[in-house]
Amino acid sequence: MPETIAPAVEVPIKDYRAPLRFWHWGNATLITLQLITILFQKVIVNSKSAVPEFQQALSKDNVTITQQQGRAFAHIISERIWDWHKYFGWAIVGFFVLRVILQLMGPSELRFTSRLMEIMRRYRLAPPADKGKAGKILFAKTTYALFYLFLTIMVVTGLILIYEDVSWLKGIHHLAEETHNVTMYLIIGFILIHVFGVVWAEISEDHGLISRMVGGDKVPKQAA
Ligand code: HEM
Repeated sequence: MPETIAPAVEVPIKDYRAPLRFWHWGNATLITLQLITILFQKVIVNSKSAVPEFQQALSKDNVTITQQQGRAFAHIISERIWDWHKYFGWAIVGFFVLRVILQLMGPSELRFTSRLMEIMRRYRLAPPADKGKAGKILFAKTTYALFYLFLTIMVVTGLILIYEDVSWLKGIHHLAEETHNVTMYLIIGFILIHVFGVVWAEISEDHGLISRMVGGDKVPKQAA
């Protein structure tokens, strides 16, 4: 039987299956919620900086509290926000495990590495005139590989921070905290590039991309 070879540049595997779409939007929502907890913790509430305000408010009723007592109040508020960060963190761990299961046991359309290999193959086979377009697709996929790396780092370091009382993890607590913090900025960078890239693709050459990621589409599309 003659073997059919896919055209070198075809919009790659746009049949976003339901599990992938569920994972994508669930994970995006949870990461947004995590970023919101940090926004509240570090900027909007920033309970540590409120200590002088606590002192001032209480002094109106002739109550004097020390810096240390003020910090104890602030700690209660910040712990409440961290609790939510941990709940969302556990949900992200759940989604991460789901992604690993899809990667290991799912059909090839759901496996990131199969999709990446396919796109690399198309890039290699692309005629010179199509190399630019194939290269853009490969670039987008490479940023996803980086995102999965950042997510893995977030999950591992987040778990190390949750289990801070485990004696053998104490030695790497500070490193985990710093790494967790820096990786957040890398994730924010990814989100900016990703959203810009998707909106750009939608309005320039891949109309309907966003609605396919929401509602799915069984018909693979040829690039214009
Ligand atoms: C992917 C989105 C996430 C973002 C943007 C994020 C961001 C951050 C940031 C900026 C901090 C402060 C670190 C510091 O003080 O220097 C933090 C702390 C923390 N994160 Fe995350 N994180 C994410 C996911 C997770 C996950 C998946 C978990 C758990 C599995 C987790 C658990 C924690 C814990 C336990 C802390 C310390 C809380 C405390 O000090 O009481 N985070 N996170």
